Amino acid sequence: MPQAKLIVDRDFAISDIDRRLFGTFVEHMGRCVYTGIYEPGHPTADEKGFRQDVADLTKELGVTIVRYPGGNFLSGYNWEDGVGPVAERPRRLDLAWFSTETNAFGTNEFIDWCRKIDIEPMFGVNLGTRGPDEARRFVEYCNHPSGSQLSELRRKHGYDKPHDVKFWCLGNEMDGPWQIGAKTAREYGRLALETAKVMRWVDPSIELAACGSSNRDMATYARWEYEVLDHCFDYVDFISLHTYFQNPHDSTEEFLGNIELLDYFIKEVVAIADAVAATRRSPKRIMLSLDEWNVWYKARSHSDLRKPGWPEHPHLIEEVYNAEDALLIGGALITLLNNSDRVKTACIAQLVNIIGPIMTEPGGPAWRQTIFHPFALTSRYAHGRVLRTLASSPTYAGKAAPEMPYLHASVTEDEATGQVVVFALNRHLREEMDLDVVLRGFGQDRRIVTAQQVSNPNFKAVNTKDEPNNIAPQPIKSIRIDGHTIKAKLPPGSWNVIVTAAA
Ligand code: AHR
Repeated sequence: MPQAKLIVDRDFAISDIDRRLFGTFVEHMGRCVYTGIYEPGHPTADEKGFRQDVADLTKELGVTIVRYPGGNFLSGYNWEDGVGPVAERPRRLDLAWFSTETNAFGTNEFIDWCRKIDIEPMFGVNLGTRGPDEARRFVEYCNHPSGSQLSELRRKHGYDKPHDVKFWCLGNEMDGPWQIGAKTAREYGRLALETAKVMRWVDPSIELAACGSSNRDMATYARWEYEVLDHCFDYVDFISLHTYFQNPHDSTEEFLGNIELLDYFIKEVVAIADAVAATRRSPKRIMLSLDEWNVWYKARSHSDLRKPGWPEHPHLIEEVYNAEDALLIGGALITLLNNSDRVKTACIAQLVNIIGPIMTEPGGPAWRQTIFHPFALTSRYAHGRVLRTLASSPTYAGKAAPEMPYLHASVTEDEATGQVVVFALNRHLREEMDLDVVLRGFGQDRRIVTAQQVSNPNFKAVNTKDEPNNIAPQPIKSIRIDGHTIKAKLPPGSWNVIVTAAA
């Protein structure tokens, strides 16, 4: 049985948690918008056509911010197509996904949906086919109070108050040859700079993210980040990262090595951003926006990505998640917490149907995929700040790294409630882990408030419409607390959350 130990001291913190780490992504792609969040005529639909079952699950998921409207879709999108009377909106060919976009749902519908469930919108501007002029006009439409042509147009459309969208992405994956209007780093860096400049002149309160690489395997990775930031460093706040975890060796042990790859990715991008700062002798620190991340490899064939005949909202990339995917998502969230000094926003991609934690049937039910659970539990319990941990654990060798600890963990403290929370993944797939967590500096003895795990001995087990609760959180069976020391036995291949409070 692997023995592992965590020591935590209340005096040593990594960072406050930016709650925007628990973001998600809604793209006009497949069935994410249509028959996902929006389905007029559905038995649960409200008067605006929003599915109440999906809205309820989104709330339960604990989402804080939502990126919209793409993704690759963004790079061919005219925001003007999606505002004003629906009957007058154009039907367009979407060249990102070879679908027909009806534009029945657009900016104002999205804002209504965000307000309904009290989440923050994150918008992107099209830097594929368009540029600074469209972007500054879009900020004016959304955020300017009144008295200009575009703010008055918004008011005429029924939105008297500004939408007050704070976070904006400068394009999407502009380094990718698949992108409509892909660019070189120099072309994009200049465009991002000039676009950011005028957007800020319209609304100085906004935050802006430049596109980093589409993934860490891009041939231009690292040089792209350096050159882009070298152009637009002074005008942006964030650089984006995208990653979709793969399972090329069909091995759960290797698959869980994606946790190390994510950590390398984050630390490398931080180093590059700080290198650009060094060339300017600048104290400014660019933050990271992991604005697309998830597992995605099963539904990735040509026919998953494209259906013939320009259909409206076809079934695209409807990945069904299994138990090992839930372990990896839980593990990646631990990595995000441990890097919370620099990763301030993150969006699990996407929310519903398209590689999403929520699945729906048109006209039918909605259910939670396996990955829903670690995300919802982390969002529910990770408040306040992340503490530094001193961990000891046996390791295993994998392709991602020569020494991967079986224990992967993070500890948070919410000073408002006094709760100290341990998030722990046991990556040993055959043996239970004996874990001690020593909590130093918290004064009086502690008690366990709740201790839950997500695991299943069958790593390929899934949730379906007919068996929606096959994988769901269960109590940790063997756990106790001895003064300030938690003593738990974590099942093989399990993700766990242990919530403590003052006794
Ligand atoms: O999330 C699906 C797609 O993956 C997005 O549109 C794109 O940005 C990424 O390549």
